[in-house]
Amino acid sequence: MSDNRPLGIFDSGLGGLTVVNAIKQKIPNEHIVYVGDTARVPYGNKSVQLIVKFSSQITQFLLEKDAKLIVVACNTASALALPTLQNEFNIPIIGVITPGANSAAELTKNNKVGVIGTIATINSKVYQKELFKINPLINTISQACPLFVPLVEEGLLEGPIVSAIIAHYIKNLDLSRIDTLILGCTHYPLLKPAIKKYINNLMLIDSADSIAKEAYLILKNNHIINDNTKQGQQDFYVTDSPSNFANIARRFLGYPIQNVKTAPIS
Ligand code: DGL
Repeated sequence: MSDNRPLGIFDSGLGGLTVVNAIKQKIPNEHIVYVGDTARVPYGNKSVQLIVKFSSQITQFLLEKDAKLIVVACNTASALALPTLQNEFNIPIIGVITPGANSAAELTKNNKVGVIGTIATINSKVYQKELFKINPLINTISQACPLFVPLVEEGLLEGPIVSAIIAHYIKNLDLSRIDTLILGCTHYPLLKPAIKKYINNLMLIDSADSIAKEAYLILKNNHIINDNTKQGQQDFYVTDSPSNFANIARRFLGYPIQNVKTAPIS
């Protein structure tokens, strides 16, 4: 039986749209309700307690929208809040860390992986632990890049300021030691063209494609796929004024998003 309830996807802001894009490619007929917590972005320099509280409130909101699966499209929330959400709510909830770590472990040839992410994600050492679990021979080096998220939220994706900030962080990573770099924040794929100029021919991992595959498998295994062949509907919510979000989201998604609403979450 077809299940036309939506997938609930959330991030602190625009970054999770990289996951929306991948999910739309993989399972185009699924409806999506997206929440960007624009009033409280960035999450990456907040405490664990706050990140758990925000993630829990948004999950509750998405359940009220009848979500059948929650996709935490935020590395920071996945790193710090996912186990709590999975305990607290009786619905499948998946995060971006494991899919990203799996892809990196599959791709690295020299077992040396770099990770860039928010301060909270990097301090949690979540990728290091996950990669070690998959393959204890993998060495991980990491670097927090706290200014990347505000750049993306401002729609500043290239140019001299962006280049200077990327160079500032990348110089702290010994790129000669690694062959694979995980973009450990869902905002960072938006900076991919700019980042690529600094990393020679390293393999770049963003977890969007891998989490889309995982979402599909969960729907299939739980028999909650939407069999309707029509294109799924997308509803976007933010927690602050919708206008800026719609403008930047259109640039990124390549199509206008209508009717961005404000979610009453605080
Ligand atoms: N896109 C997020 C992540 O993947 C959130 C970043 C932030 O809000 O600091 O970590």
